[in-house]
Amino acid sequence: MNESSHRTKTGFVQAQGPKRTSRKPELPTRPEPDETSVPVAAAQAAPPQQAMYKRFPRGHYTALAEIHAIMSPDVYLEIGVNTGASFTLAGASRLAIGVDPQPCLSYPQPVGTQLFTTTSDDFFASGALREVLGGRHLDLVFIDGMHWFECVLRDLINTERYCDPRSLVILHDILPPSEESAGRTMLPGPWVGDCWKAVPCLLETRPELRMSIVEVPPSGLCLITGLSGGNTALSERYDELIDRYMARGYWNFCAESARFAALTVGFEEALAMHLPWK
Ligand SMILES: C[S@@+](CC[C@H](N)C(=O)[O-])C[C@H]1O[C@@H](n2cnc3c(N)ncnc32)[C@H](O)[C@@H]1O
Repeated sequence: MNESSHRTKTGFVQAQGPKRTSRKPELPTRPEPDETSVPVAAAQAAPPQQAMYKRFPRGHYTALAEIHAIMSPDVYLEIGVNTGASFTLAGASRLAIGVDPQPCLSYPQPVGTQLFTTTSDDFFASGALREVLGGRHLDLVFIDGMHWFECVLRDLINTERYCDPRSLVILHDILPPSEESAGRTMLPGPWVGDCWKAVPCLLETRPELRMSIVEVPPSGLCLITGLSGGNTALSERYDELIDRYMARGYWNFCAESARFAALTVGFEEALAMHLPWK
């Protein structure tokens, strides 16, 4: 893949993929991080989620902290670092690689940190990951950068090159809490974009993967294992997959609810499924 990025008038760094320039939507202002309104709003809208907030009082941070504690990943990659609230959880990793064009760190960074202030497309294209890995593979990856489907797909394609079947890749924001939050236009506040499309896309193109969804507030996590560094199924079909999924909207997400439900498991079950050796 040929990857590039540019800075918009708003100063936000926008990632672009090959031949996709005509699909570039207008970006309004960059949203401020908002970690309090989402859980409250979601819990009020969906009372069953209150139990999930009890289980995961800090939302996905609690879940990620547990995963780090169980895995102690030697090599961790996070795409989309922002304040470092999730990146800081990689304290036990020997190498913690962070990628974000505009990080605004307010949490301590893990000791073995290598932070790349660039878009994920440019980071992967630069060959820096191959260099810092020095032949090692990625143990744990958290994909939480640009929340457009095509960016999530490219992050996954580029990440998989450095994965082995035990590598655990986690996608954030695959359960949009509202139609508004699931749009292609960035919003201030809880914007999760159309990351959800990665789930049906993977189900259809990579049925051999182990995938599970955990309803961690505010917008879910998708856990994936069984990836393979040499697998090119996604990159070979990149344009076709973008064509197929780009036009889908929130209505399609609702229509796919049975498929999402079929993948949804409890947190312990997900850990047993993806980390049976732990
Ligand atoms: C939702 S925040 C990440 C939050 C963080 N992972 C956490 O859980 O605390 C998304 C981040 O992705 C970054 N981002 C935006 N476009 C990106 C790109 N093309 N590549 C990598 N990161 C990007 C933004 O700068 C922002 O800091």
